[in-house]
Amino acid sequence: MERTSFKSVFIAVFIGTALLVVALLFNTHRPQRDTQQPQAEFVRATGKCASCHLRETAAVVHQFERSKHASLGVSCLDCHRPVAGQQDYAHRGFTLAKQLSAKNCSQCHPSEYQQFLRSRHAAPAWAAVYGASDFSAAQIAHAEKYHQGAVQRPANKLAMLEGDSATAVGCAGCHDIGKPNADGSIGNCTDCHARHSTSVALARDPQTCGQCHMGPDHSQIEIYHESKHGVLFSTQRNTLNLSATPRELTTADMPIPTCATCHLSGLDGLRVTHDTTERLSYWLFAAISHKRPTYVQGRNAMQEVCLKCHAATHVDNFYTEAEQVVADTNTKVKAGKELMQELRAEGLLTAKPFDEPIEFLYFDLWHYYGRTAKHGAYMGGADFVQWHGNYELLLKMIKMKEMARELRQRQDKR
Ligand code: HEC
Ligand code: HEC
Ligand code: HEC
Ligand code: HEC
Ligand code: HEC
Ligand code: HEC
Ligand code: HEC
Ligand code: HEC
Repeated sequence: MERTSFKSVFIAVFIGTALLVVALLFNTHRPQRDTQQPQAEFVRATGKCASCHLRETAAVVHQFERSKHASLGVSCLDCHRPVAGQQDYAHRGFTLAKQLSAKNCSQCHPSEYQQFLRSRHAAPAWAAVYGASDFSAAQIAHAEKYHQGAVQRPANKLAMLEGDSATAVGCAGCHDIGKPNADGSIGNCTDCHARHSTSVALARDPQTCGQCHMGPDHSQIEIYHESKHGVLFSTQRNTLNLSATPRELTTADMPIPTCATCHLSGLDGLRVTHDTTERLSYWLFAAISHKRPTYVQGRNAMQEVCLKCHAATHVDNFYTEAEQVVADTNTKVKAGKELMQELRAEGLLTAKPFDEPIEFLYFDLWHYYGRTAKHGAYMGGADFVQWHGNYELLLKMIKMKEMARELRQRQDKR
């Protein structure tokens, strides 16, 4: 009798514990939000994908759980269902798009997509490498309205010389931000927002822009790191509210600017823009920098951002000094360009690009050091204006003159 009762208590406890363990196991396999605040609507929309994907690609579900999309009930299917022009396939009882693009996001964010489409991040970025041939006539016409000559252009000569694999994995690794998609849309939004976290905090982090805006030809991230702004950001970032809702972002959330603050954010009532051209006044990336057609609007729009944190005299002085660096850099690059033109006229260089050492030297002169000096001046990088900029401009010009002398001497001896 005693033994049976012990046995039945043991069995009851065992079964009870086992049930509890099973229930716990089951719950840990459900999305956190689902278990903490079960909402019928959310479970209906996302539950099936999420409960299965917690066994397959769990990280995707955990990233999604933390997103604003999840908290607002945007479901897996809202993004993954095919939209017009996309190929579909059957997947576990659902119909999904084979390849997602900016078009899926633009269903719910049409104005962000339209702004993005006007920017150089769209068609011009792809055309900078591959030329116009991958775009439709309508796409070319749209982009050329805002950036004349930026899409209607031949493929890049250096890229073509380096070959397909270098271009596909190298150049396109950054320039695919504006890749034309099979569904007729352009580019992707996930380079800055990521697929499942889709967060503004990520997009506001300078490192996100620094994925592509880095290296000697566009050292923006390096310049930022050494600027007062960048130093303050790295020491005080945990005091900032990087997740603030864009339309409500104030200098209380972010008293220190990141790339996004100056180029895209709506700060203290300014309008958010996905057109990164709106606040620019010069074509700094060009060998010789001219004013953009939108010079006045661009300068004013950027200064409006500075003025949220600085006094007008401070900003005016900064711009006067930076414009002087642009003018002086133009003079130095022009001297190099004229020397190249003389050598060509004298028949000392072939018509082919990038087949003689002096062509590389001239390319480095403007493409690395000229640009760096100008970018450093506008974004607070003294070292880049000086040692990675003007010092190298001087050195490369002396080397170019030496090479020109040698070419001319060889000609005389013949
Ligand atoms: C019953 C399980 C199950 C369900 C339900 C399910 N999936 Fe999947 N899904 C999988 C498996 C398994 C894979 C393959 C994973 C791998 O390759 O490691 C997969 C792959 C995927 C892929 C990648 C496809 C590729 O090859 O590029 C996507 C996207 C995806 N699922 C989205 C979804 C979405 C969205 C839903 C809900 C609408 C969903 N899945 C529902 C099991 C499921
Ligand atoms: C905000 C839109 C959005 C939502 C919401 C979303 N996804 Fe995705 N997902 C994407 C994008 C964009 C990709 C990249 C797909 C591509 O390149 O075709 C992707 C890719 C994937 C992949 C392939 C990942 C890889 O790296 O191989 C899986 C699996 C997936 N999603 C599952 C899910 C599941 C499950 C959910 C819901 C819990 C979900 N997604 C919600 C946009 C979304
Ligand atoms: C079914 C509609 C829908 C789709 C599809 C969708 N979103 Fe959203 N998204 C929303 C809604 C709703 C909000 C909240 C808007 C608000 O706060 O005003 C939002 C907010 C956002 C935010 C701001 C998040 C924050 O932290 O404030 C970003 C960034 C974003 N979406 C990016 C994307 C990207 C990128 C895609 C495509 C991969 C996408 N969305 C697809 C509906 C959608
Ligand atoms: C690490 C990322 C990255 C790689 C790799 C890269 N680029 Fe760029 N490229 C950029 C960024 C960022 C800019 C914008 C520079 C600026 O505005 O200051 C740019 C600007 C340009 C421009 C000037 C803008 C224009 O529209 O004329 C050209 C041309 C260009 N890149 C071509 C190429 C080619 C060709 C390759 C490969 C041989 C390449 N890029 C590789 C990131 C990259
Ligand atoms: C995936 C790579 C990539 C990322 C990420 C990226 N960019 Fe760019 N960006 C480019 C390329 C490529 C260009 C040059 C396009 C052209 O002119 O051909 C460019 C150009 C620009 C320009 C110059 C536009 C003009 O009119 O000349 C600005 C400003 C800019 N980006 C700011 C940013 C900021 C700010 C971020 C982060 C929030 C960012 N970018 C993230 C690749 C990227
Ligand atoms: C304090 C504000 C500020 C910050 C922070 C900032 N920029 Fe800039 N940026 C500027 C100004 C001002 C210019 C020059 C604008 C002009 O042409 O009038 C500029 C120019 C540029 C250009 C050059 C476009 C061209 O014509 O070649 C790019 C690209 C760019 N910034 C990207 C970035 C990236 C990426 C970061 C972060 C790593 C960043 N910026 C941080 C203010 C800022
Ligand atoms: C160059 C990087 C970059 C790209 C590419 C990009 N975004 Fe953004 N996006 C940002 C930044 C930075 C913010 C936050 C702006 C701020 O700080 O106020 C943002 C904010 C947003 C928001 C919130 C806006 C609001 O007013 O609440 C949405 C929605 C959004 N992006 C959607 C998209 C969509 C859709 C695409 C593709 C068409 C896209 N983004 C491409 C950088 C980017
Ligand atoms: C969100 C606020 C914010 C924005 C926007 C901003 N700055 Fe700053 N800036 C700061 C802070 C904070 C410092 C550090 C001041 C200190 O030393 O206490 C600083 C420092 C500087 C400095 C170096 C210190 C000095 O006074 O010499 C310069 C130059 C500068 N900013 C120029 C600009 C320019 C130009 C713009 C616009 C293109 C701009 N800033 C946009 C907050 C901002």
